[in-house]
This record gives sequence, structure tokens and C-alpha cells, in this order.
Amino acid sequence: MNSSVRVAAVGDLHCKGSSPGSFQTLFSRIAESADVLALCGDLTDRGLADEARILARELQAVKIPKVAVLGNHDYESDAAGEVISILAEAHVTVLDGTAVEIAGIGFAGAKGFAGGFGDRALQAWGEGATKIFVREAVDETLKLESALARLRTPCRVVLLHYSPVVDTVDGEPREIYPFLGSSRLEEPVNRYAASVVFHGHAHRGQPEGKTAGGIPVYNVALPLLQRLYPDRSPFRVVEIPAMPAEPAPPPVTVSRERTQ
Ligand SMILES: [Fe+2]
Ligand SMILES: [Fe+2]
Repeated sequence: MNSSVRVAAVGDLHCKGSSPGSFQTLFSRIAESADVLALCGDLTDRGLADEARILARELQAVKIPKVAVLGNHDYESDAAGEVISILAEAHVTVLDGTAVEIAGIGFAGAKGFAGGFGDRALQAWGEGATKIFVREAVDETLKLESALARLRTPCRVVLLHYSPVVDTVDGEPREIYPFLGSSRLEEPVNRYAASVVFHGHAHRGQPEGKTAGGIPVYNVALPLLQRLYPDRSPFRVVEIPAMPAEPAPPPVTVSRERTQ
């Protein structure tokens, strides 16, 4: 086994009818420079099966293992199940509160959700609609927690679409910060000492941040990387050390509500 595994990450491809051929250079560069491809949601523009089929064809050239989470755009047409099936046929493992081990590295993924950050995060109080909104963020956090709990690998990579930290949404209009991620998602990342987090969704945010526990967080939204690094291929590669598996982690207590 190699001493490290190179994970290439990119999100927000927003594949659509005009996309055939447009990802060939990106994907061939990734295939040359990484061992695993991680896709961080908004894989399609409107969540259409036809868009997923276009992406599946574009991905045929990428022979390395591929993992993904869906984003909000992938749910737009109520066809997320079909999108997942089409991508599965193209050998993309779509994580949704689930985990997979590749080359000795654990990958845990969930879409995540919105709600805001820190002391200003939206709380489950008042109208039922507000409680439902907050419940979605709590449920996505629990899904990520259970995915991480399944892994026995010493190194764990987290895939999200929404951001778990405010650092990587900085630069977006302040009015939409609460719609770009949730601090709730940060808790399992820290508790399970993930090696790294990749997310997308914040097309105008920052490329790098950290959780409160010091875990690196990378915003790999394609439009952001294209704008920041016009002379580079728009994806990020992180090398993860490949180490032998460790014993099962101790059981964890999951708090259903964030206390502030
Ligand atoms: Fe997006
Ligand atoms: Fe998004």
C-alpha cells in the first residue's frame, strides 16, 4: 500500500444540458493527479436525470474510485433517487449519512443543511415551520455522526455540501450566511477527529478554514476555485496518510440540540 492517498475534491459542477465535453479537461487532470475523487454536491443544475446521465458520461474517463454527496440543486426536481442510481451505475458511491472505506481511508458524507453559525444560529423555537427547518439541520448532523461512527479507519474524510464553519463562507453577502451552512455539522467532525472536511455550496466564499478543533475545512465549489485560481485546474488535492485500521472508537453520546 502507498504511504498516502491523494484525494481530489471539487463540488458544484452544476452539470446541465450544455455541459457535455466541458468537464473532460478537469476530469482527466484529476485522474492523473489523485487516487480518489470526492464530489461535494450540486452535481446537477436542476436535479434532472438527464443531467445526471451527462455527468455519468463525463465521468467515464475517471477510472479512480469516486465518492460524492448530493447538494440542494440535486433535489430540485424530486428525482434525487434517480440521480443517485445513475451515478451508481457510473461507479460513483453517493454518501447520505453513510460511509465507505477506500484504500484504507474512511469517507463519511451527508448533504448537510443551513441554519447559520455560532451563537446566531437559528434555534428550534416558535413556529412549526422554523422547527422543521432546524430539524433538517439536526437530522443531517445526526446522519454525519452515524456515518463517522461506522468507520474504523484511522483517517476519516468528511464530505458535505453545506459548510460546517463560517470561515469558508466569508466573502458571500452577509445576508445569506445562514443559508450556506450550519455550525451543527461541525460537532461530529470535531468529536471524531476527522482528517479533513470538503464542502461546496458557497460559490463566493473562501477556499480554506478550520473547525474549532483545528480540522482543515476546504470549500471546493468549482466557481470559487475557477475564480481564485484561474491558472490552475479547479480542484483541490489533499494527501491523507494511509495507516493500519484501529480498534472501534468508544461509543459517543449524540446531543440532538446544540446548546450555546
Ligand atoms: Fe452550487
Ligand atoms: Fe448548493
